[in-house]
Amino acid sequence: MADAEVGDDVLDGDPTVRRLEAFAAEWLGKDGALYVPSGTMANQIALGSWLRPGDEVIAAEDAHVLLYEGGATGFLHGAQSATLPTTRGAFDEAALRAKVRPDFIHCPPTALICVEQTHMGSGGSVVPADALAMVRRVADERGLPVHMDGARLANAQVASGIPAAELAACADSVSVCLSKGLGAPVGSIVAGDADFLERAKRVRKRLGGWMRQAGVIAAGGLFALEHQVERLADDHALAKQLAERLGALPGLACDPSLVETNLALVGVDHPRHDPASLAAALADHGVRVMPLSPTHLRFVTHMDVGQPELERLEAACAAHLG
Ligand SMILES: Cc1ncc(COP(=O)(O)O)c(C=O)c1O
Repeated sequence: MADAEVGDDVLDGDPTVRRLEAFAAEWLGKDGALYVPSGTMANQIALGSWLRPGDEVIAAEDAHVLLYEGGATGFLHGAQSATLPTTRGAFDEAALRAKVRPDFIHCPPTALICVEQTHMGSGGSVVPADALAMVRRVADERGLPVHMDGARLANAQVASGIPAAELAACADSVSVCLSKGLGAPVGSIVAGDADFLERAKRVRKRLGGWMRQAGVIAAGGLFALEHQVERLADDHALAKQLAERLGALPGLACDPSLVETNLALVGVDHPRHDPASLAAALADHGVRVMPLSPTHLRFVTHMDVGQPELERLEAACAAHLG
């Protein structure tokens, strides 16, 4: 990163940003890609490129784009949402069909379907290829675009053995975070075809997400895509081990067979602790974990933690729960 060749991406282009965008586009099987500051911005650039005020977007009831992006879909694009329950990120076909609005003046026009890969709300599950193909089929029948929030698409590739481009083939636009398990300090990618990218560039500009000498940080993103994908398998193995070991402690529950990637949702049912109080207690041991709901903690494994940290975590949990 310190040696990155830089230019002005807002004027005539930053060479490192261009290399990252070209590499990402190729990996994702899309015409092109844009480097942007965050996963939230990548998703919202995509939504802003597909939606007009008054439109409706179909997404999972726990979709990141709807629940964890500060209400941006309404705030920024004037669009509303129609939500569906999922089975570990996969829509039911009949339910999805039923959610697409009829072409009727009283109804909001359905303008986009969103999928999330991996699906965060169910603990990083890989949405199967046939479930994605079904979404594409329904979208084609109704003439709708599909956006994939692929924040952890690289994890899905490693866990399933299916190349990212294949997993993203169902989508007209796809976002990917370089700053999560891939370990880059900053940045995300949003990719799609040439028409999409023209609109996306305008939305990126409006959101202030077009950065100038961004090669310094883009170099970290490029390194992540070139060298850090395969090692995600280590994070997945550690998350499974975490599930086995914490799930065996009193008051905690986690089924390791449900841990497919780098997230482990651990249920807390204990006389003295709920997820929030246990997270606060673990913070005193240097363990940072997110209470995802009133019943579950969300543990994330990544390149900065390994066996010694798992031992420390297990001991800290045992001390508070025993
Ligand atoms: C599924 C999903 N999409 C998008 C994002 C947004 O990423 P960022 O935190 O970079 O805005 C996250 C972040 O946790 C996520 O889990």
